[in-house]
Amino acid sequence: MRLDVVRAHFEAEAFDYDGLIPRLIPHYHEQHGLMLELIPFEREASLKVLDLGAGTGVLSFLILQAFPNATVVAFDMADNMIAACKKNLSAYQERVKLHQGNFAEDDVGSEYDLVISGLAIHHLDEPEKQKLYQDLFHAVNPGGLLLIRDTVTGATPQLTQQYERLWRQYMKANGEDDEKWFQNYLKEDRPSSVEDQLQWLKSAGFEEVGCHWRYLNFAIFGGRKQ
Ligand SMILES: C[S@@+](CC[C@H](N)C(=O)[O-])C[C@H]1O[C@@H](n2cnc3c(N)ncnc32)[C@H](O)[C@@H]1O
Repeated sequence: MRLDVVRAHFEAEAFDYDGLIPRLIPHYHEQHGLMLELIPFEREASLKVLDLGAGTGVLSFLILQAFPNATVVAFDMADNMIAACKKNLSAYQERVKLHQGNFAEDDVGSEYDLVISGLAIHHLDEPEKQKLYQDLFHAVNPGGLLLIRDTVTGATPQLTQQYERLWRQYMKANGEDDEKWFQNYLKEDRPSSVEDQLQWLKSAGFEEVGCHWRYLNFAIFGGRKQ
């Protein structure tokens, strides 16, 4: 039921998303350069990639541009996001498969070298995230990488509050209605701490698990399958 609310939100926002999101997420574009740097594969490698919660295809685009032999499955539950993604990735259409589905319930496929996900997994609650990390461990090839950028909580409630206050200041400074977005966040999002998620990734079987970057309640983290 809550995911229906999330889906309705992204159906409505799909065509404004690319302009809006850097005003809501600190260092949004800066994160992309770092994510690319963190991918340990040769640029010519024939990678099979899954972009989970692909939205308008921003991370898929980065991968398709940087890895000319990569193929990407862009996975999202919102029709309008899939439509925007199709348009944004049209230059690479032979290397893209659009897949509409709910990654909390549906099969996400297998034999991926890279699973990348941006600002999507925080919509799941704790048990759903733990199950997803187990599913993703089975979905990646040996040597494969999982790289997540997401909204997270602090290690303590006090830190979470502090981060959320500073995040609201960021949105407000960009001319956004921070109260509206914060209420949306309380209704739709279920962020977990980096500390818990690293533990769940290790329990799922991932190695080289770590948090690579963090700013307030946003982080880039992941692990690798040996
Ligand atoms: C905030 S957008 C992120 C877009 C892009 N990945 C980025 O980094 O900017 C989150 C996307 O995740 C999708 N999403 C959220 N939960 C999902 C789920 N359970 N299954 C599939 N897609 C989901 C939404 O439809 C939305 O398009």
